[in-house]
Amino acid sequence: MKVLVLFVATVLVACHASDYQMYPLRLKTSHVGQYSTEVLCASWRLGVEANNLIKWKTVPEACQEFVADYVLGNQYRSDSKTVCREVYFYAKTLNITDKDVFVFDVDETLLCNLQYYSKHGFGVERFNATAFANWVAEGEAYALPETLVLYDKLMSLGIKVVFLTERLVSQRAITVANLKDVGFDKWEKLILKDPAAYTGKSTLTYKATERRKLEESGYRIIGNVGDQWTDLMGSYRGLRTFKLPNPMYYIG
Ligand SMILES: *[C@@H]1O[C@H](CO)[C@@H](O)[C@H](O)[C@H]1NC(C)=O
Ligand SMILES: *[C@@H]1O[C@H](CO)[C@@H](O)[C@H](O)[C@H]1NC(C)=O
Repeated sequence: MKVLVLFVATVLVACHASDYQMYPLRLKTSHVGQYSTEVLCASWRLGVEANNLIKWKTVPEACQEFVADYVLGNQYRSDSKTVCREVYFYAKTLNITDKDVFVFDVDETLLCNLQYYSKHGFGVERFNATAFANWVAEGEAYALPETLVLYDKLMSLGIKVVFLTERLVSQRAITVANLKDVGFDKWEKLILKDPAAYTGKSTLTYKATERRKLEESGYRIIGNVGDQWTDLMGSYRGLRTFKLPNPMYYIG
């Protein structure tokens, strides 16, 4: 918060001090200039993050390069860091009890599947469950660096974490190995999806149901971190939710 206030204050001073010419914003008419692809794709990405664009199947083809530049460049790291710092600032203010847990999603929250998505058009190609399962089976996903820093800080605050993923119970062993390999080596629970229990149910229902079970068994969800809105909506979502960026796919 202090950082934000300082930032806003700095921007205000900067605006005041320099000589910006203010133009009134005008409505654009069809023949007055098109936005560049970059501008259009930045709007698309903002719409995705704000959950205004929902149920999309693929990244617009025109935005492949934009998304690639984003996830491979500094912006993704910086955006993730902003979220993770905020989680930490929040966590620090809490009086943690034995019952308190933070819930984390796994893919694009703890683990990074960029090696896979870089070979599949950064989300321009339609999601292929078989190909993705083959990739998961390799157990080669990296840690998302900013989340790993946050994870270590939460551990040092003595906060328990629960990992709640759409990965299947059959993928438990490789998921455990992959998580440990990259530094996520301790957790209270790792909840994977049992397809038998959730056939025909949405991800939202699956995650809310598992969170309800957590709370009913005595835990209190004090924070919830994920890259999909389906991680963060629905009941028992926790005292605070934190959305990490992900412009590559949408889970409805
Ligand atoms: C945490 O505990 C301290 C000492 O008991 C108390 O002063 C403080 O208000 C508590 N903070 C929260 C957020 O409950
Ligand atoms: C999905 O991936 C599998 C395994 O790589 C491949 O055999 C299959 O053809 C792919 N399906 C589509 C529709 O691309």
